[in-house]
This record gives sequence, structure tokens and C-alpha cells, in this order.
Amino acid sequence: MKVLVINGPNLNMLGVREPEIYGSRTYADLEAKIMEDARNLQLQVKVKQSNFEGEIVTMIQKAYGKYDGIVINPAAYTHTSIAVLDALKAVGLPAVEVHLSDIEQREDFRKHSVTVAGCIAQVTGLGFESYREGLNKLKEYLETTI
Ligand code: DQA
Repeated sequence: MKVLVINGPNLNMLGVREPEIYGSRTYADLEAKIMEDARNLQLQVKVKQSNFEGEIVTMIQKAYGKYDGIVINPAAYTHTSIAVLDALKAVGLPAVEVHLSDIEQREDFRKHSVTVAGCIAQVTGLGFESYREGLNKLKEYLETTI
């Protein structure tokens, strides 16, 4: 099973960015952890990051026909991006939305996800483990549908 992991804006700043919320591990650490999880789950995973909304839309579009599913942390675009939502709906690939922090427990503007409506599930608040759980949920879903 081939899975594309997409990380949105400012996640490349992990380690520097608000460590009290996101921890002290870096983006490179996150990528390494995702690849380790992928090996353990026997998934073929590619990880990409972009700070640009249109680039994320293009990544989702290009996943069509190439990947079986998507794990996405749209970061701030979670709360605003109809374009990312529409791209997820357009390709129709099963997608799981993940967040490092628990968006329900933060500022009001983070409580609502626009993009989750294009996803089969959401995992929040587990730090790096959110990605492992997201990959696992996607794998379970794919096993029942492929
Ligand atoms: C985030 C939560 C978002 O609200 C925020 O804009 C991010 C990171 C998370 O992983 O906790 O950039 O998606």
C-alpha cells in the first residue's frame, strides 16, 4: 500500500517553533519517525512538506492514481482552506487528518477543521504518535476496501 504523507505550513519549523506546544524534536526527527512507523506497518510512504496552499493542492491532485491514500497535517490551512478540502474531495483518495496538538483544547479558531470533511478520520493531540495512529487507521481502512 502506497501512502503520501503531506505536512503543511510551519511544520518544517518543528524544534524551534513553540516547543511548549509542539515539543523540541525537529522536522527531520518527525520524518524519520514516520518512516520508521511506515516500515513497522509495512506501508510504502513518501513524506512531503510545503508552506504553500496551492502546492499542497497540487500534491493532492498528483497523488491520484499513484497512491492508495493520504495522511495529511494541513497545519494552519486546516482551519481555512476550502481549496485543500476540494482537492481531497476531487481525488477521492481515503485521507486521514492528523495534528500534533489537540486542536479541540486550543484557541477557538483552531477548534474547527474545514479539511476534515474530506477525510475518513482525524487524529489529534498525540504528538508524533498522531502520524503512527493516522497511518494505522488508513491501513485498516484500505485493508477493508482494496
Ligand atoms: C497543527 C495545529 C494547527 O492549528 C496549527 O496551525 C499547526 C499545527 C498541529 O499539528 O497541531 O500548524 O496542525
